[in-house]
Amino acid sequence: MENQIDEIKSKTDIVSLISEYVSLKKAGRNYKANCPFHTEKTPSFMVSPERGIFKCFGCGEGGDAFNFLMKIEGVEFDEALKQLARRAGIALKEYHPSPVEKQKEILLLINEAVAGVYHRLLIEHSSGKKALDYLKGRGLTLASIKSFKLGYSPNQWEFLGKYLSKKGFNLKDVLAAGLIIPSSRGGGYYDRFRGRIIFPIFNIRGEVVGFSGRVLESGEPKYLNSPETPIFDKSSVLYGMHLAKEEAKKLNQAVLVEGNLDVISSHQVGVRNVTAPLGTALTFSQLQLIKRYASNIALCFDTDLAGDSATKRGIEIAENLGMNINVVRLKFGKDPDECIKKDPKLWQASLQDLMPIYDYYLSSAISRYGLDTIQGKRKVGGEFLPLLTKLEDEILRAHYVQKLSALLGVTEEALNKTLNKQKRVSGPVNVQKQGEKVIPTLVREEALETYLLALLFQTKKNSEGVETADFNKEKLRTLFELYSKEGKSFSAKEFASSLSPDLLPVFDEIMLVEIEDYLLEDDEKLEKEFIRCFYQLKSLNLKRRLKKLEVEIKQAEILKDVVKLELLNKEFRDLSVKLKEFNE
Ligand code: UTP
Ligand code: MN
Repeated sequence: MENQIDEIKSKTDIVSLISEYVSLKKAGRNYKANCPFHTEKTPSFMVSPERGIFKCFGCGEGGDAFNFLMKIEGVEFDEALKQLARRAGIALKEYHPSPVEKQKEILLLINEAVAGVYHRLLIEHSSGKKALDYLKGRGLTLASIKSFKLGYSPNQWEFLGKYLSKKGFNLKDVLAAGLIIPSSRGGGYYDRFRGRIIFPIFNIRGEVVGFSGRVLESGEPKYLNSPETPIFDKSSVLYGMHLAKEEAKKLNQAVLVEGNLDVISSHQVGVRNVTAPLGTALTFSQLQLIKRYASNIALCFDTDLAGDSATKRGIEIAENLGMNINVVRLKFGKDPDECIKKDPKLWQASLQDLMPIYDYYLSSAISRYGLDTIQGKRKVGGEFLPLLTKLEDEILRAHYVQKLSALLGVTEEALNKTLNKQKRVSGPVNVQKQGEKVIPTLVREEALETYLLALLFQTKKNSEGVETADFNKEKLRTLFELYSKEGKSFSAKEFASSLSPDLLPVFDEIMLVEIEDYLLEDDEKLEKEFIRCFYQLKSLNLKRRLKKLEVEIKQAEILKDVVKLELLNKEFRDLSVKLKEFNE
């Protein structure tokens, strides 16, 4: 099967496939278009015929021909497979799952059995009585407990191993499911979850992929989660989404809360478009999952969204996906669970009174810094303006510029000027007007490193002068190292096939970066561009080193370490001179 998939892939011309849906334009060695998966006015959707892949640098969507078809047609893998096989004129052999797929099947079976036995222990068995009383004490009905299939893991060291062996499962597989842990003294295994309330974690299809176990009453850690397994990746599932998806689709809105119990309480009172990340910041794949059902998100987190950079990043991703984000202001309590317990109507009312995320950011900054002083105003502006540069929607941006102008007593013109300036420096290539839009979602430094590698990989240029240490991103550094070993004999195809699975997507991304035609056609211009980036990178690194030195110098001063101080000061001077040279 694997081979047939490869065969289909290699016989599929990804450019002609994608051309059936969007109009592609040639861009260097690649093709580009406005992304079909989010709204944009300047193309950031790239296709590499050489690698058989696509990627949108705006919303992050990407993959091979299979992924494209699945996404654009909204079909599952087997359907995409059939369609592409037909296109490629290949008759599909019968489907035989690979060993990896077989193991995943087994893990799902194990999880299902475990969820079942824990559930029965909770609702039927005396050992689960305390846990059941606790949940009922918190207001959960038996119906809720059943629909979320909550359970209880008995307070025993070797319960699951025995239970599952009896059911005919292999302990190796139970181990792979993350349910037992090898005991440090002598052979044997012990149960990961003991004496905990169990929240099975379901994927979108309603299969149990992992577990979250809460202590009864109090204790540490409060929640224990399954480790990563072949079927469980904490950062790509959302708790309760399998039960929330239909309502989310109907309302075109998903409500994101923090805790498992918030999800259950809300479903219990009939507000069912509610789901939660498993204690981690929102990730791209979680947001993508939501987007399949709803394009509006209502966030109800306890933390200050504006103060938490991980959350802010998540919000930025959602926006790039073209989603609309609002903040829920709870009418009562610190979380939905508390609010619902007080009165479900208050929860419903909270969801009717949403605040656009940018209003939230603005009022959060104002409440922290105030508008009474110049310093306060400056800080509010300093925090809010950079957020606006990322806002693609021009009407919205104008709206907030207007608002900010009124609040700060600064003209809109001045604010727009600052905005445009900030926009320019945040782009990866800040001199070239044409190159400005290459990788808008990456931070400047990483973008620069990526772009430099793209110049090398896509033109097979020699990398003279560039050093491994110039790269801060580990994977980029490794790729550079491997590339410099290749020398003239570099071939993208062979290079790709020699890469480990974690490096390959990074490499593919580099191959998708747009290199302007005029650079590919003219060696001299290419060299110039290369040197420009090269200097930028070097100078960024020097600046970083200087910053560190500054700290070290301060410390040496405090410690009155004269010898060290002398050395550090000399290094500082040398580096400053070098930096000046580079900048010139
Ligand atoms: P909360 O502490 O808000 O828990 O953590 P909760 O679900 O509302 O539970 P109660 O109401 O106190 O009983 C929010 C989420 O963060 C994750 C869990 O997914 C939890 O639901 N978390 C929390 C962990 O993964 N580990 C922890 O130790 C704590
Ligand atoms: Mn809670």
